[in-house]
Amino acid sequence: MQLKITVVAGDGIGPEVTREAVSILRAVAELNGHQFTYTDMPIGGVAIRQHGSPLPAATLDASLASDAVLLGAVGGNEFNSLPPSQRPEAGLLQLRQALGGFANLRPSIAYPALAGNSPLRPEVTEGANILFVRELLSGLYFGSPRSWNKDTGVALNTMYYTREEVLRVARVAFEQARKRRKKVTSVDKANVLEVSQLWRAAVTEVAAEYPDVTLEHQYVDACAMHLMNTPRNFDVVLAENLFGDILTDEAAVITGSLGMLPSATVGGKVNLYEPVHGSAPDIAGTGKANPLGAILTAAMLLRHSAGLEQDALAVESAVNNVLSQGHRTTDIARSGQPGQQSGQHIVSTQEMGKLVFAALHEIFNRKQALHAV
Ligand code: IPM
Ligand code: MN
Repeated sequence: MQLKITVVAGDGIGPEVTREAVSILRAVAELNGHQFTYTDMPIGGVAIRQHGSPLPAATLDASLASDAVLLGAVGGNEFNSLPPSQRPEAGLLQLRQALGGFANLRPSIAYPALAGNSPLRPEVTEGANILFVRELLSGLYFGSPRSWNKDTGVALNTMYYTREEVLRVARVAFEQARKRRKKVTSVDKANVLEVSQLWRAAVTEVAAEYPDVTLEHQYVDACAMHLMNTPRNFDVVLAENLFGDILTDEAAVITGSLGMLPSATVGGKVNLYEPVHGSAPDIAGTGKANPLGAILTAAMLLRHSAGLEQDALAVESAVNNVLSQGHRTTDIARSGQPGQQSGQHIVSTQEMGKLVFAALHEIFNRKQALHAV
């Protein structure tokens, strides 16, 4: 298996977590004889500083010429006063648009080992396993007109969707549901917004093509509450761009930390893989960042761009094993527990990466031993 991967590590904790994700990909390639190549390119704040643009042409060209793009995070406090079009985030949005992936898959899983780390009671989160399908290329993020007129004191964004845009992302959600527990919850605000009424009508149209999948509609405000009250009731959650952005951060509470959540963006020319968390400038360079979101993102890359389902599962098992052994970055450690307490062992970003690496080797060795007999 050959795979050309463009690595855009970006800002803040992006480079440190991406490094660990790449070393896991290297391990998988080496253990199973795949040929993966990696090209590092700048994006976001680091690209603004070096090249005056959050998405330099060379980064875009390399990304378009690759089989998959692995992103760390973008954003930094020094850019906070700039208009949206000049911020690091603009580079990510331009990259998403150019690569064309419109369906952003964001799993949110309650890992048994982390049951005590969520502020939600274990009996509430137990067994929760949700796949968010977030529309990524339309809605308020990309709709025009958009403006902020400082003279008149009026600002404007446009929530825009076409029926086609909803149909295509809804199909992805129903296809995913078919491989899971066959239920789609579509999120909207159809009691207020015309765009949501179109959304609901188009999703209902697609549902007719999938009689084996149950469709329910929820208003976004109610959904935000149900996610915390009864997370087990959800299978696939389908949401427009901004609602999906908000609900997936909220759903991190089910897992225990935003640092755990991976994502894959599919449906375009080149798939884009990025953890859900941001650049976390406050902890960048301190070794506190959780690399598991990035590592699980690498697993999604193996699954969706390389078709290596077994290898993806092996990486996910390795993460599970490391968590079960009690290793924790600070974000997933129970507060007030320095060092080794209650079976928890606090580790750095790099140590966590190494532990997953070792667990992965163990899984592959065991597999080989089984094949040998
Ligand atoms: C995310 C992030 C991005 C988004 C930002 C960095 C532009 O919050 O991937 O969830 O809003 O899509
Ligand atoms: Mn977000």
